[in-house]
Amino acid sequence: MIARATSPSTILRISLSVITLAVVVAVGFIGRRLATQEIDALVPDVPPTAGLVARGEYLSRAADCAACHTRPGGTPFAGGVAFKLPFGTLYSTNITADRDTGIGQWSDDDFVRALHRGVAKDGRNLYPAFPYTSYTAMTRDDAVAIKAYLFSLAAMHAPDTPNQLPFPFNQRWTLTFWKWLFLDEHRALGHCGECHSPRNILMGMSTSKAYAGAEVSGWYAYNLTSDRASGLGEWTDAQLQRFLSTGYAEERGPAAGPMAEVVENSTRYLTPEDIQAMVIYLRGLPAQSSGYKIQAAAPLASTDSRGRRLFVQACTGCHLLDGEGRQSPWAALRGDRSTRESSGTNVVQVLIQGSQIETRQGSMFMHSFTAGYSDDELAAIGNFVIGQFGRRQGTITPEQIRAQNASTAH
Ligand code: HEC
Ligand code: HEC
Ligand code: HEC
Repeated sequence: MIARATSPSTILRISLSVITLAVVVAVGFIGRRLATQEIDALVPDVPPTAGLVARGEYLSRAADCAACHTRPGGTPFAGGVAFKLPFGTLYSTNITADRDTGIGQWSDDDFVRALHRGVAKDGRNLYPAFPYTSYTAMTRDDAVAIKAYLFSLAAMHAPDTPNQLPFPFNQRWTLTFWKWLFLDEHRALGHCGECHSPRNILMGMSTSKAYAGAEVSGWYAYNLTSDRASGLGEWTDAQLQRFLSTGYAEERGPAAGPMAEVVENSTRYLTPEDIQAMVIYLRGLPAQSSGYKIQAAAPLASTDSRGRRLFVQACTGCHLLDGEGRQSPWAALRGDRSTRESSGTNVVQVLIQGSQIETRQGSMFMHSFTAGYSDDELAAIGNFVIGQFGRRQGTITPEQIRAQNASTAH
């Protein structure tokens, strides 16, 4: 045993890993210097005009900056939103114009560099949870307009929440490698992929499965490619436009959970031309099947009377039994993708968390049902919904409700 521990092959392995580590460290430092040296020649700040601020407001909505930099009920852009990653928790930062805790002292150059290269004013590499890889193709003028808009708002004193990341993930210089691997200069405003593309182990978005669907905070962000079985292949252009600009589409149901937030904070403000451009872009995505297949519709063997009774009691006040919404089209469930998944991931999420969306017609709201119903009852309701509206056999179990509930509870 002892002999094996000091055998030549062990020593070789140890020295190899020491050498690898040394090379990694050295290259990391070189990479860091490269990244920090790439500051463009100094360009003086552009004076903010009302026009610039208005364009910046539009662009910041298109890019959905507020979604990640505003805590629920908190001051817009003051940061502090937690991002749970497989290896720790990262917090978004204060990007209001506060001089001490925000970005009040940043020049246009500093700001552009953060968006294009993921490097902060003080040279820190930013974690890719901040989707700068999606912003690399944004023009300097657009970035400067966003900064002008942020600086036109009230500055908020809000110190950053320290990240909880273990070694080596707390080492910002290691991010240089990540950037070499994943910083793709040819994408812009593509934050849709932040949720709809799977991430590989290094936190980069998987390019081979881009937009093929992924899990995000317990919800499933569906396949956006033109695959007919699991993607948007069967959607009409008009349905897509309606969904992105209002948060629901006839025969497709509402945008719930994180997607409701995207519509509320971002896409509903886009001009019809920009929505149209987004639809054309989505249409151009080559079909990819996701592992998350929709089962074929099947006649149901039994009608679940308990699930039906509970649904009538708890849900028909807003969702009628025929799949039309009672008060508003946002509650229409006919054709809703989530009801066509036997596994019911998003149906369970909406039962646990509720969902809401701010619209031009007012706030559309569904509360959580965990308080009044047992896990067993929720499973029965969920399976009834899948059978009634999705024509599939639901497989939701009380254990699944408990597991999804535990992983969303903080
Ligand atoms: C998907 C979530 C997400 C979106 C969308 C997002 N950010 Fe961030 N942002 C973050 C996170 C997380 C950090 C902190 C990264 C770190 O600490 O390394 C961050 C950091 C930053 C920083 C660095 C601030 C500092 O103090 O170092 C700036 C500037 C910034 N974001 C601006 C923006 C702008 C402008 C937009 C819209 C164009 C935007 N962000 C959209 C999550 C996001
Ligand atoms: C914060 C994560 C997130 C972001 C960012 C995001 N989505 Fe989604 N998206 C989701 C989730 C989760 C769902 C499922 C919603 C549901 O259950 O109703 C979804 C659903 C959709 C659907 C409906 C798909 C179907 O089969 O029913 C479309 C279309 C869509 N998203 C388009 C987009 C586009 C376009 C963008 C970029 C502008 C985008 N999403 C950005 C999370 C996100
Ligand atoms: C107070 C009205 C109201 C009640 C009661 C209500 N809902 Fe909802 N529900 C809504 C609205 C509004 C939406 C759309 C939310 C959005 O777009 O953010 C929705 C969305 C949904 C969705 C779509 C989820 C998705 O991923 O697309 C499902 C499924 C659902 N509800 C099921 C139920 C069930 C089951 C019950 C009873 C236990 C119920 N709802 C009770 C108003 C309600």
